Amino acid sequence: MKLNNNDILQTRAYIDGQWVSDSNHKTFDVINPVDDSFITEVADLGKVATREAIDAANKAFIDWKSKTATERSEFLRKWFDLQIEHVKDLAKILTLEQGKPLTEAEGEIRYGASFVEWFAEEAKRVYGDVIPGHTRDKRIITLKQPIGVVAAITPWNFPNAMITRKVAPALAAGCTIVVKPAKNTPLSALALAYLAEKAGIPKGVFNVVTSSDSRAVGGELTSNPIVRKLSFTGSTQVGKILIKQCADTVKKVSMELGGNAPFIVFEDADIDKAVEGVIISKYRNAGQTCVCTNRIFVHESVQIEFTAKLAKAIQKLKVGNGLEEGVEIGPMIDHQALEFVEDLVKDAVQKGAELVYGGARNNKGINFYNPTLLCNLDTSMKIYKEEIFGPIAPVFSFKTEKEVIQMANDTEFGLASYFYGKDYAKIWRVAEALEYGMVGINTGLISTTLAPFGGIKESGYGREGSKYGLDDYLELKYLCIGGIE
Ligand code: SIN
Repeated sequence: MKLNNNDILQTRAYIDGQWVSDSNHKTFDVINPVDDSFITEVADLGKVATREAIDAANKAFIDWKSKTATERSEFLRKWFDLQIEHVKDLAKILTLEQGKPLTEAEGEIRYGASFVEWFAEEAKRVYGDVIPGHTRDKRIITLKQPIGVVAAITPWNFPNAMITRKVAPALAAGCTIVVKPAKNTPLSALALAYLAEKAGIPKGVFNVVTSSDSRAVGGELTSNPIVRKLSFTGSTQVGKILIKQCADTVKKVSMELGGNAPFIVFEDADIDKAVEGVIISKYRNAGQTCVCTNRIFVHESVQIEFTAKLAKAIQKLKVGNGLEEGVEIGPMIDHQALEFVEDLVKDAVQKGAELVYGGARNNKGINFYNPTLLCNLDTSMKIYKEEIFGPIAPVFSFKTEKEVIQMANDTEFGLASYFYGKDYAKIWRVAEALEYGMVGINTGLISTTLAPFGGIKESGYGREGSKYGLDDYLELKYLCIGGIE
């Protein structure tokens, strides 16, 4: 791969400011999901190295938390500047190991960097309170202090932004951190570590442990008493295991888990805009985001028009290798993901769904599935309950507001939701009735650094980004000052 700066492609882990290999030179392969071709091999670390990273973070915490907020902010700002300077290289690495189109990858790098810029500023705004005392001689003050060593376990679908969204607030708050990136996408994480080193972020403050053994590394991160907080983005199934593992040492936990986002099109919606919204929210990263539209509910009176327009828009999506010009849909991350999506479509069709468009693999590469549109769906189909994580748009029809709210909320998940309509009273009613952490109203794109990202129910807890994003990395301490005569 041709990069402007070849040093940004690192293959060793980054612990205590050192680039380290496994003591037995164990490595694992990084694979391009387009054709399962070999990219490079990366250090395959285990429990012992994870413990070393935690110890390094613990040592570094003493000095890092003692820096002024402005000092920490300056490090973050330098790191942000370097990310923007290297945006092209970071995007190429991301596309190569993850598969998303280059323009989307560049968008992710900018999105990821925006968290660093934002929290560089927020670092300076960690305010406490002065509370009127409960007796005449007392005063009450609250302080916010960094929680300590943080562990982050991050996913393959956003190999850059889901790291910066955790690392930036942690560092801004005064915490140090150990990151375990997904085994499919370690290169983006290591590139960020390389730029952190260049930014002068002190050794031990930000550590990256690469591994193919999630159980061993995750086991250490969740059981080691030095780690005071775990932040995880990934599936609800794995999140539940991690929560249990963290219980023994009572760690603070943030979980950004799965979703089953409804996208409702009411009878008064602007249909063209709603179609645009579905394309954005459904097909970003080939449907592999946890805020992707999962079930589309369309009022029966506009269903024919909506479906025809959506089918036309889907047909235009260009599938292929993300490094090629104009490609909008890349591969599934691996064969297992491809088979999962295939099975969902098969199940729906067997149970009577109409396949309007797509419904098959695409021969652009080994893990590609065509953008697909299904209609005449019902609640017995797997696709109604499962998080699709692929480029399938399932359209359900509804008659009443009450019925669609019931269907939209009929899931254990509660991350993102979307609806299109014009009646302002209905907008308020529906927004309040949807049991989700995030609601997009007449938009299919809700992700931004400025807003609190997170879910309810089995989609997790904690909020990332925004002015609330620092809270998960801070402890609130209360001082009661007596003897004030
Ligand atoms: C995710 O899919 O985990 C995050 C998506 C986003 O930040 O928009």
